Amino acid sequence: METKSVKKTNTAKTGAAGAAKGDSRLAEFFVDELKDIYWAEKHIVQTLPKMKKAATSEELKDAFEDHLNVTKTHVTRLEKAFGMLGEKVQAKKCEAMDGIIKEGTSIVDDTEEGTATRDVGLVLAAQKVEHYEIATYGGLIQLAKTLGHEDVADLLYETIKEEEEADQLLTRVAENHINYNAAQEVEE
Ligand SMILES: [Fe+2]
Ligand SMILES: [Fe+2]
Repeated sequence: METKSVKKTNTAKTGAAGAAKGDSRLAEFFVDELKDIYWAEKHIVQTLPKMKKAATSEELKDAFEDHLNVTKTHVTRLEKAFGMLGEKVQAKKCEAMDGIIKEGTSIVDDTEEGTATRDVGLVLAAQKVEHYEIATYGGLIQLAKTLGHEDVADLLYETIKEEEEADQLLTRVAENHINYNAAQEVEE
């Protein structure tokens, strides 16, 4: 859905100077999307400690702890990006992330404490978060380039790499023990 608008303004070869005016509809859309992911990242910062607390496996707890620190950097990078664009730092509620996180919270309610089954659920929820972030940053990097903001694109690229690493780490954690352990668990 974003590709259409990308094409439309792709003719703006004025580069950063033209785009920096931020007067095009696409530029406005871009900033709006930044506000959206900014809200999401801040929400994730609040959620990860709860996920860590709910997790049983030490490996998973560590993964959540690591990603909490990384996510704080994502928040800072977005603040930097707003500054580069001459925009004020602002968050706009991201309904999608709100939904994904609510679904994650319900996993905790629906599973027993100290079980690998709960860990499986937490990994699944966390991977949905990561995939949403990867999709968003992928689109934003493209838009930043189209708008001539290579510096912002580079900054967001650092973040998307870390989201991908987090996703891969979660897969490894699940494959190592959690999924197997959960498969052995029987209902009492
Ligand atoms: Fe993030
Ligand atoms: Fe993330």
